[in-house]
This record gives sequence, C-alpha cells and structure tokens, in this order.
Amino acid sequence: MGIALSLPVSLSSCTKRESQGTTVAPLSEVLQTWEGVRALFPLDNSHIQMAQMLLASHPKPVADAIAMHRKAFDKNPAMYWEEHYLTAEKLVCEAAAKYMGVQPGEIALTDSTTMGTALLFNGMKLQTGDEVLSTTHDHYVTDKSIEFACQKSGATYRRMDEYQDPREVTVAEVKKNIANAISDKTRVLMVTWVQSCTGVKLPIQEIADVVKQANAGRPEDRRIYFAVDGVHGFGNQDEDISAMGCDFFSAGTHKWLFGPRGTGVLYARKDAWDFIRPTIPQFSEYPFYEYLGTPPERDPTFFELMTPGGFHSFDFRWALDTAFELQMEIGRDRVHLRTTELSSRLKEGMKSIKSVDLITPMEPKLSAGINCFMVNGLSAEETVMQFHKNRVVTSSSPYRESYARLTPFVGNTTEEVDRCLEVLTKIAKA
Ligand SMILES: Cc1ncc(COP(=O)(O)O)c(C=O)c1O
Repeated sequence: MGIALSLPVSLSSCTKRESQGTTVAPLSEVLQTWEGVRALFPLDNSHIQMAQMLLASHPKPVADAIAMHRKAFDKNPAMYWEEHYLTAEKLVCEAAAKYMGVQPGEIALTDSTTMGTALLFNGMKLQTGDEVLSTTHDHYVTDKSIEFACQKSGATYRRMDEYQDPREVTVAEVKKNIANAISDKTRVLMVTWVQSCTGVKLPIQEIADVVKQANAGRPEDRRIYFAVDGVHGFGNQDEDISAMGCDFFSAGTHKWLFGPRGTGVLYARKDAWDFIRPTIPQFSEYPFYEYLGTPPERDPTFFELMTPGGFHSFDFRWALDTAFELQMEIGRDRVHLRTTELSSRLKEGMKSIKSVDLITPMEPKLSAGINCFMVNGLSAEETVMQFHKNRVVTSSSPYRESYARLTPFVGNTTEEVDRCLEVLTKIAKA
C-alpha cells in the first residue's frame, strides 16, 4: 500500500528499474514522452484502441501494485488484511486527495461511479415535497439512482434540457436554463461533468455559481445541494475538485484515471455531510467502536460514513493509490493538454468530412475526451461495426438517442487519430 508497500512500483523514489536482468530507464524518465506512457499499457495494438473511456487497461505500475497485494493476500490472507486494513485505504485516500485537491476524510471509496451515485442518492435526507432536479443528458444509472431514492423518500424528480443542441451549446445557455429550472422545491441539482451521450463538458464552476445565487435567499435547511457525476472528466482535466464548487462528486477510477477495475471515489464537501445517511457499514473505527459502545471521541469522516465495508477485492482497491501517483507523475496539466490535442485533431478532421455530423462542440471549454458523431445515415452500432472491421475499437453511447464515439486517451498517437479519420472518410464515402 502506498509508498511503503508499493516500493517495487514506487514512482518517485525510482531511479533505475531492472527487467529480466537488463537495466531500463527510470519511470520518471519514461513518463516524459507519450511513447513511454503508451508502452506502460499492455494493449492489443493490432487494433487502434479508441474506447478506453469504458474501462481502463491497467498500466504497468498499477498492474505491479495489484500483483504485489494479490501475492501477499494469497500467502496469508488473514494476516495481510489484519496488518493493513486500517492503513491501506487511508493511503489510497491520501493519494486521491492530493490529486483532487480535497481532504482525505472527504473521500469515500466505491467500486464504480454507479455505486457512488447510488449510495449518495440512497443516503440523502430527502422528504415529501422536495425535488431533485437533473438533466436529460445524465447516464441512466444516475436517472435510476434518483428515481429509487425518490420512491423511498416521497420526493419528486424532474429532468430539464440544459441546452437544446450539443453542437451549439453555450455556457450562458446552460446557466440560464438551469437558473430558470430551479424551483422553490429543488433540494438537489445533479449534472454530469462530461456527458457520455454527447461529449459536452458542462461548466461546473459556473453552474455552482447559479446554485450559490439560488441559495443566497434560502434558510440552511432548504439549501440546494449540487452533485456531479464526474467520471469522464476525472483523469483528463486539470481541475481541483474542491475548486469546482460542487457538494458531491462521484467518479469511477477505472476509466480515464487508469485505476484498478472495480474502483471509484465519492467526494463530499465537509459542510454537506449532514445531508447524507450511511447505507453500508464500514469496517473501521466508526462504526465498529460505536457498536461496541465506545465510539471514538470525534465525528466520523465521510470515508467512515460512506465507504462500503465487508471484504472486497482488496488487491485491486489497495492499488488505487498507485494510479493517482502515476497520474500526478505524468502531470495533470500534461494529461489534459494531450487529451485536448488528440480530440481537437480528431474533431477538426471530422468537420472536414462530408456526411459526418459532429455532435460534440469543438471548444475545449465545452468538451473533453469524448467525441460523438454520426456518419452517412448509419446507426451508432453500424458505425462501430464498420470501425471494427477496419481494426479500430470504438463505442456507441448507451442512451435513447445513441451516437458513435471516438475517445482518444494519452496512450493513443496522432498517427492513430489520423488513421481513424481515414477510416471515417472511407465509411462516409461508402
Ligand atoms: C456518464 C456516466 N456515468 C456513469 C457511468 C457508469 O460508470 P461506472 O462503470 O464507473 O459505474 C458511465 C459509464 O461509462 C457513464 O458514461
């Protein structure tokens, strides 16, 4: 865990690495070039991999950290767990907090965006008469999490169009539509940072300002809480989550962040914890000593309230700090710039191909790494199949209105982007 236990894959202290008897460059040097970053992923490069947004391939340092924990667990599961369960996840939260610009106690560990969002809504102290406001562009797991929570609490939910056309969305339009949609009943506003249906990146800080203004005239017990599904900006943008102005932020760490599959984080600003009740008891001082009748002389952290307890695939979860360290070692700013460069190159090319309808905005302020499009009257699924035939792995969005997506990550090359454009040109002409 963390620095001590992940020594074989420790990123900062590494000067020289040994590989099958030969000396290889230190990791910090490898990470200076995108070829070096690409080489960390054991991806099948007989195909161009343009769907990493769904599920990450484990880069070598993460795979090594998982293997180290697995080996130790397999040797002596009870002892390894006993020795480390109180500290391992603390180290993960510390690494996550550094990357996110928040406090470690404000982070709960989850298995996915879905789990984080569902636990969040399930725990909200909603009542009859309250309303949850969300958008028509959120993922169905968000819609369903809200629906389930409202069925239980008696609250209602409403979805609004925060913009009319993704191709022409503006910050002013989003702000205006959200401000107009907030009602006296609204208790929670939920939006998606980077939408997997359209590729639109919503201006979270500006929306937080709208919420702040709406809250200005309200008593504390009617305050609106602002929640964000952040998964598709998490690992490709250069933002401190604390500076975005939201109260809650749920994200899987197994997509853009290249964390172990089956991991995620749920962040809550400290002054929003009161609005949430726990669902699944955590294996930690809280609530265990509380159960014994000797609770710690302090309040529980959000980690203790919301991280599901029970035995997990700890070899994966405890390796998550390595993924955060790797992202920081590459540089959050470099990752952002590279993702923007590859996506902008792709969109510029798409715009110049006749019969390609680019859905995602060009502007980096309103887009990230997801590039949605339609071509030649084909359905999204047919387009994905055509790309597959041409050895490009891509995806379609799982929404009522589905688009095809090309989603380059930092392990892709500009040549691969150009090859995708050649394939697209061929499909468009067919
Ligand atoms: C916007 C959005 N939210 C949530 C999810 C679910 O993510 P997870 O697999 O981390 O639960 C997805 C899936 O890719 C998504 O696109």
